[in-house]
Amino acid sequence: MNIKTSAPGKLMLFGEHAVVYGYPCIVTTVSPRIYVEVEKTSGLLKIDSPQFKDTRFVQETVKLFCEKYNVNNNLLIKTHSDFSSQYGFGSSSAVTVATILALSKLFQTEISKKEVFDLGYKVVINVQGVGSGFDIAAAVFGGTIYFVTGGKVIEPLFVKNLSLVIGYSGVKADTSSIVKNLEFRIHNSESEYKKIFEKIGKIVEEAKISLVKNDWKTTGELMNKNHRLLQELGVSTEKLDKMCHAAINVGAFGAKLSGAGGGDCMIALASSNKIKKVELAIIKAGGEIINVKCNI
Ligand code: MEV
Repeated sequence: MNIKTSAPGKLMLFGEHAVVYGYPCIVTTVSPRIYVEVEKTSGLLKIDSPQFKDTRFVQETVKLFCEKYNVNNNLLIKTHSDFSSQYGFGSSSAVTVATILALSKLFQTEISKKEVFDLGYKVVINVQGVGSGFDIAAAVFGGTIYFVTGGKVIEPLFVKNLSLVIGYSGVKADTSSIVKNLEFRIHNSESEYKKIFEKIGKIVEEAKISLVKNDWKTTGELMNKNHRLLQELGVSTEKLDKMCHAAINVGAFGAKLSGAGGGDCMIALASSNKIKKVELAIIKAGGEIINVKCNI
């Protein structure tokens, strides 16, 4: 029997970094997905993953799943992705979740969404050592969600017509080293960072309301505020700042980096009649437009 599953990528809307330290964030899914195919074999575990050299997430998922459900790992696993891992859309979390779903179908194990999340989050921590789990939650639950560290709260938000422009900065960010670097800096002046995280936490609470109300003006202002606090945390780059400024200058409601910073993507919120202008401004600032649908 051959089982096929898939899981979506994600984009962080608000609250990155603070969410690692117990604060909330808001994340949304994107249309590109990662597909996983599994079948039982008579041989050893084989992972056929031509697009990703790093198969640690699939390996760790198989290990934890087989231990938990007491099944053997004579498996052939194939992965395929709609998107490049360089954009920071969460290919590792999506492949982890799609693999858990495929294995639970193959072995006919009853597994709730929360259990998929818990197992997936364990995989992330075992492989990366750091992370809030927001990306796993997005891949499991889909849509736009309000999330608190480690899955303490996972709440779907009903957001309609989220009109985002996504600009790739051309630089691949290494999330775990950025998170670890910040952790090191926090050690030296904890109270200063706590103040920034508290401000980010407040922005997330306000955005939770403005997003559901379709209040794009307020949401855009909150994005700008969140970006400034990420600059204070020292995780933005000149290129990301330039792309955000460019988008705001031509009429975007707001813009911010999305994810760990240090590269990857920025997002701009814009009304449909401004999208083209915002896209061109981001390109002029050196970015590449990634055409995906959000909130899937
Ligand atoms: C990275 O995309 C977002 C961070 O908040 C890390 C995490 O939450 O796991 C920086």
